Amino acid sequence: MWFSFPNVRPRRLRQSELIRNLVAETRLTVDCLVMPIFVKEGIDRPEEIESMPGQYRWPLNDYLVKFVEKLRDKGIRNVILFGIPKHKDSIGSEAFSKEGVVQRALRLLRETFGKSILLIADLCLCQYTDHGHCGIVRERRGEVVIDNDETLRVYAKIAVSQAEAGADIVAPSGMMDGQVRAIRQALDEAGFENVLIMSYSVKYASAFYGPFRTAAYSAPKFGDRRTYQMDYRNAHEALKEVMLDLEEGADIVMVKPALAYLDVIRLVKEHFPYVPLAAYNVSGEYSMIKAAAARGWLDEKSIVLEVLTAIKRAGADIIITYFAETVADLIQD
Ligand code: PBG
Repeated sequence: MWFSFPNVRPRRLRQSELIRNLVAETRLTVDCLVMPIFVKEGIDRPEEIESMPGQYRWPLNDYLVKFVEKLRDKGIRNVILFGIPKHKDSIGSEAFSKEGVVQRALRLLRETFGKSILLIADLCLCQYTDHGHCGIVRERRGEVVIDNDETLRVYAKIAVSQAEAGADIVAPSGMMDGQVRAIRQALDEAGFENVLIMSYSVKYASAFYGPFRTAAYSAPKFGDRRTYQMDYRNAHEALKEVMLDLEEGADIVMVKPALAYLDVIRLVKEHFPYVPLAAYNVSGEYSMIKAAAARGWLDEKSIVLEVLTAIKRAGADIIITYFAETVADLIQD
């Protein structure tokens, strides 16, 4: 038998740090990390987010600029912006306004940093609608529904306004059918053929988004998101969602959340190895670690590296994580 001679000893490969580093299958680097940033209208100092210790809502001023500069200096060059508008209405018009909070943040960061920072804009309605749903709500035959195709028209407008403001990538997260096609078409018609689409293709209806909704005031006022976000009992359905998004023109696809869905990340990577795959290490995954670490129950630094490496090992090429800055500090050490 092949293993009887020479004497195979797996531990030989583990005997020193240099050898372990030499043979490591997975490497966590800062290039693949994306830092989520909340920008809020109507404040002049950063506000710490109660449900996400160490994370802030940033004002549209020098505080934001300095923060992004600090990230860039640490090697974090990719950010995804979430807007928190002052004014909400039934169609979320601040999401596509030229003077919307994300549009202003994009212009500010683009003017300050040029192309040295990659600007991704989350594209959704839930922070902007007074009802908190990701789409347009309407009554149909006595029933309240999220109108898919009406929502697509609004998403198309948001995409163009974000591209005009300087977004390199738009990231639709509302899970409406056909959203990638609608956005691709609108971007192309407006002359933004080079703006990428990173689609939240596989987004589950998840309680792990709880802290984010507190942070962004975006919890639905009635009902839940289960008529558009995926059912967590389903794994193979992810392949259908990814296939459709690729047909519609997605450049990068995403699985979200990450940690409880490593099987799904692996499944998608195996079926579509040629497609860049992002995973979103969401707010609940962040806050659980922060809460346990604050009590001394877990060692934050080790846990963060273990968790993020596991997400990469499962097959993610890109990780969106609130720990991006922490990782940069750890990798430098
Ligand atoms: C908006 C959106 C959400 C998240 C990202 N984009 C919230 C939701 O679907 O309710 C969650 C991110 C996180 O929990 O960190 N549709």
